[in-house]
Amino acid sequence: MDDDTLIAAAWRVRENAYAQYSGFPVGAALLGSNGQVFVGCNVENLSFGLTQCAERVAIGSAISAGFRAFTCVAVVSDSSEPISPCGACRQVLAEFAPRLRILSETLSGVRAEFSLTELLPRASTGILG
Ligand code: THU
Repeated sequence: MDDDTLIAAAWRVRENAYAQYSGFPVGAALLGSNGQVFVGCNVENLSFGLTQCAERVAIGSAISAGFRAFTCVAVVSDSSEPISPCGACRQVLAEFAPRLRILSETLSGVRAEFSLTELLPRASTGILG
């Protein structure tokens, strides 16, 4: 699957975001090593701390479906610059794909690429050191 197709899936699922408190809908599309795509959007809550980010919704969906190996995640939002996953999402993504590619695109078409290794160095050592 090419990057454009994965990003398009993230834009589609962003339409379903429940982001009425922040007004900041996000879509994520996670590419499984087998080529299958798992999507997620942010799901906010009146109790703000219970908000689930799009990336964690996507990975929860993938794990629930029985997939645990991933190569890339696309994240999309309407922001001035491409966003990257929050610290909590980085940690959760690292559990399954420490070398994940992360693609991010804004509504105006600005694209960035990160690696999870860069965003969360030393993830593999866990809590030890
Ligand atoms: N959000 C995500 O879903 N993914 C990100 O990568 C950044 C932030 C959500 C959380 C919250 O619902 C809203 O965006 C504002 O932070």
